[in-house]
Amino acid sequence: MTLRAVLAGTGSALPRTRVSNAELATRVDTSDEWIVERTGIRFRHIAEPDETTATLGAAAAKEALAAAGLEAADIGLIIVATATPDNTFPASATKVQALLGAPDCIAFDVAAVCSGFLYALSVADSMLRTGAARHALVIGSETFSRILDWEDRATCVLFGDGAGAVVLSAEEVTGDRGILATRLHAEGKYCDMLYVDGGPSTTGTVGHVRMQGREVFRHAVTNLASVLGEVMEEVGLAASDIDWVVPHQANKRIIDATAKKLGLSADRVVLTVDQHANTSAASVPLALDLAVRDGRIKRGDLVVLEAMGGGFTWGAAVLRV
Ligand code: UT7
Repeated sequence: MTLRAVLAGTGSALPRTRVSNAELATRVDTSDEWIVERTGIRFRHIAEPDETTATLGAAAAKEALAAAGLEAADIGLIIVATATPDNTFPASATKVQALLGAPDCIAFDVAAVCSGFLYALSVADSMLRTGAARHALVIGSETFSRILDWEDRATCVLFGDGAGAVVLSAEEVTGDRGILATRLHAEGKYCDMLYVDGGPSTTGTVGHVRMQGREVFRHAVTNLASVLGEVMEEVGLAASDIDWVVPHQANKRIIDATAKKLGLSADRVVLTVDQHANTSAASVPLALDLAVRDGRIKRGDLVVLEAMGGGFTWGAAVLRV
């Protein structure tokens, strides 16, 4: 028997308002055709003032708890991956804890932008396996619309808001169930390629997303293919053993190019970028929840998660559901 972090439930939450490319084109110098052709994005959800990273995160967490058959009181660890916290402090995880009515537990945020959920998952996996908690909520939640420059068409069309959550439970398992491997990377020398031009310690403002799109694109395909290769090698399995890949949903062309590099067929890749756009740390758990709820991802499936984002940071995880 081996102590592993097992996926016990998933959940997600999207803001009420959905915005199409055509609607965006009435406000920004862009077109549905350009956005679809370059990114695959058709819609994104945009948070209303009463919808925040913490409220969306808590809504996703409630769904995940219900799916796991657990109560908030069962949770010993809450990690929120976000680049758009409600406040500079306290951590959004403590706000989620309060919204859930969860009693004293460990709660903190992880900041690794689009790779945040992979970082948070890896931290939770380690903490569960060393006995810090029995059940953990790992949440990716973002309100990126609040840090977009709506005058910059090169970035504002790409992002959306939302949240996804998973419950992980520490279980003694036989065989290869649960999280089998995680691998994380960061290369801070590329921090100027995708960043926010403000912050508490520099400008004292929240700032806006700035990106050198082409450079990010190029690094994304290379880094994602390489980290996927690393985790698969670590678990001693081949691309042909993978039932589902749940990639970070930044751009359909990045997802397609990465799958092609690994020899994965497109029908094993979960795609939500068309409906949600890039929701940063929320994109992987949102897509995972969708595929679990519609029955594509089933008990026993080998699932690979991957993401890359600002920093640069990137990572991947392999789990048997
Ligand atoms: O989560 C991780 C972070 N993000 C990513 O992974 C995104 C990575 N990058 C990308 O997905 C792509 O680079 C973009 C989708 C951002 C851009 O696609 P691209 O094929 O690299 O286009 P580009 O930036 O080279 O721009 C091509 C043209 C430019 O016009 P000129 O200079 O050729 O006349 C842009 O001004 O497209 C123009 N353009 C637009 N046109 C209409 C840029 N944004 C838009 C727009 N609508 N929204």
